[in-house]
Amino acid sequence: MSERRVCVVSGSSSGIGAATVRRFAAEGWDVVVNFSRQREPAEAVAAQCTALGVRALVVKADISDDKQCHDLAAQTLDTFGRADVLVNNAGATKFVALKNLDGLQAEDFHRIYAVNVVGSYQLSRALVPLLRTAPAGSALKQQSGIVNISSVASMMGRGSSIAYMASKGALNAMTVGLARALAPDIRVNAIAPGLVETPWLKEGLGARYDQFRQEWVERAALEDTIQPEDVADAAWWLGAGALKTTGEVLLLDAGFRLTKA
Ligand SMILES: NC(=O)c1ccc[n+]([C@@H]2O[C@H](COP(=O)([O-])OP(=O)(O)OC[C@H]3O[C@@H](n4cnc5c(N)ncnc54)[C@H](OP(=O)(O)O)[C@@H]3O)[C@@H](O)[C@H]2O)c1
Repeated sequence: MSERRVCVVSGSSSGIGAATVRRFAAEGWDVVVNFSRQREPAEAVAAQCTALGVRALVVKADISDDKQCHDLAAQTLDTFGRADVLVNNAGATKFVALKNLDGLQAEDFHRIYAVNVVGSYQLSRALVPLLRTAPAGSALKQQSGIVNISSVASMMGRGSSIAYMASKGALNAMTVGLARALAPDIRVNAIAPGLVETPWLKEGLGARYDQFRQEWVERAALEDTIQPEDVADAAWWLGAGALKTTGEVLLLDAGFRLTKA
């Protein structure tokens, strides 16, 4: 069994997930880097982590598939013998204007929920046995933690689509339910970030991105966007610290919600 603590982050070949595995690696943790489509970026992120002196396991797994979640957990057990923190970060969306109700069909909801809600549930369930038996967890149970990456969209009725907002609202509710279900062994919290500067929004909004970003900065009380490293900081605190906090959804939006809706 690894003497170092281990952090598993779904969707960690890019953006917030990549910043989060780098953050835990910088703190001396071994990490599991997960992706579902493109291996190369995942290997590059893993190399950044190993350069920090820790071990990084790269696992291809689509979290919407329960078997692949169990395979990820089995590979984590084989390689490290433990898992101390899980960050459910992988997400899906469809960019549809709010008023375009015909732009979303049932299959869009199902695909988005399959990753954001069901996938996060399945990966949590697959890793709970490992999180429960982590040595740090047995010495001081609350040290094991799950952090769900939600979105400010769940609270504001703004975001890439109504299906996405609803899925992140469901993830918030699931966070509270799992926090009750897994206490006192495992703490479960969520982070609801605002505009984070990752490929996600840039690719989703295309030519509209610069204007969207500008409007965000003008409206946010702190006159700023969020960087992936800001979310990674919060994930580090909620996952490895915050020993008396569970069932919380932390808004991380540079004060965007303080201004007019
Ligand atoms: N960017 C924002 O403004 C923002 C704001 C609030 C919340 N969030 C949330 O933050 C999370 C990460 O977003 P990001 O902006 O960092 O996105 P990103 O840069 O596009 O990265 C997404 C990551 O998830 C992986 N992934 C996608 N579907 C997956 C699946 N089914 N199973 C496993 N891995 C999967 C991707 O790799 P592959 O493509 O190879 O699978 C990639 O590693 C999402 O949950 C998103 O909803 C983002």
